Amino acid sequence: MAQKEIIAVLGATGAQGGGLVRAIMSDKGGPFTARAVTRDVNSDKAKALATLGAEVVAADVNDPDSLTKAFQGAHGAYCVTFFWEHFSPEKELAHAANMAKAAKQTGLRHVIWSTLEDTRRWVPLSDDRMPTLMGKYKVPHLDAKGEANTIFSEMGVPTTFLHTSFYWDNFVHFGMGPKKGPDGVLAITLPMGDKKLPGIAVEDIGKCAYGVFKKGPEYIGKSPGIAGEMLTGSQMADSMAKALGKEVRYNAVTPEAYRAFGFPGAEDLGNMFQFKRDFEDAYCGARSIELSRALNPSLLTFDAWLDRNRGRIPME
Ligand SMILES: NC(=O)c1ccc[n+]([C@@H]2O[C@H](COP(=O)([O-])OP(=O)(O)OC[C@H]3O[C@@H](n4cnc5c(N)ncnc54)[C@H](OP(=O)(O)O)[C@@H]3O)[C@@H](O)[C@H]2O)c1
Repeated sequence: MAQKEIIAVLGATGAQGGGLVRAIMSDKGGPFTARAVTRDVNSDKAKALATLGAEVVAADVNDPDSLTKAFQGAHGAYCVTFFWEHFSPEKELAHAANMAKAAKQTGLRHVIWSTLEDTRRWVPLSDDRMPTLMGKYKVPHLDAKGEANTIFSEMGVPTTFLHTSFYWDNFVHFGMGPKKGPDGVLAITLPMGDKKLPGIAVEDIGKCAYGVFKKGPEYIGKSPGIAGEMLTGSQMADSMAKALGKEVRYNAVTPEAYRAFGFPGAEDLGNMFQFKRDFEDAYCGARSIELSRALNPSLLTFDAWLDRNRGRIPME
């Protein structure tokens, strides 16, 4: 049997990277094996990946030499940044630059950069429909990822610019699950009006990324966008009601109200949802469910995701 080629996976103990490691390692006859990159090779999550047969190595995206070591001898790498760890677009840019440099130095043949739109292409800083944040961003955690695309291309790294979507898992882990209103009825709160929000089961991001690696060079230089479904707030609330066996309403607040919620990142997320609402055609049009299913035939719909996760959705 031919020697398997290595895919180095950043964020391997996390949501996107974890899905990719599991996708690679569960395909026993496949062409790749995973090198899981973590800051702590002794954590329970790292050990669980080793149990799957993945090589587990230590690196920190702040430390360029550690990335070069982690990428050495690999065929490809999955590169993702961790905005919610530090809330800094500048750090995301610096980390992306460290990843791209390490990829170039080690001669990787295929990098997937997990990116999102630089919303300033649609909403320049002079557009006051939404506030400018941190001096030069509209949606800091999207803009920096989009801005970093050029770092990979200008360095000549063979890159696929994978445009991901809202994780439905945010209803479990990110405080976005249904909450009881004053009348005791559950509601999900999003400032999306009646527009569609592309969403995906986070585990499917890794599975789609695996599909991209398996396609070989076909997606290098391309910007595929992935989603499991594109649903309105009302449609998601109706599906949740069915899955949970309880009334769930859609509380369609304004972006202004959402930005004022005051939790860390509320302004960033308020602007993000407003961008997705106001530019529904462009944002949905950059993602394809058909393509996602072609890359990952087990792609979940929202109902299928709910079926697997209904017990984990908090209902405060
Ligand atoms: N939530 C959404 O709907 C959504 C949608 C699209 C994109 N995103 C983007 O997804 C990104 C996060 O990806 P994720 O959800 O997969 O992350 P995650 O589940 O929070 O996992 C992040 C992992 O990264 C590792 N990590 C953190 N700091 C590191 C460092 N300095 N060096 C090396 N590894 C480090 C950690 O592993 P160790 O502790 O083991 O080192 C952690 O397990 C964010 O930038 C976010 O904007 C989110």
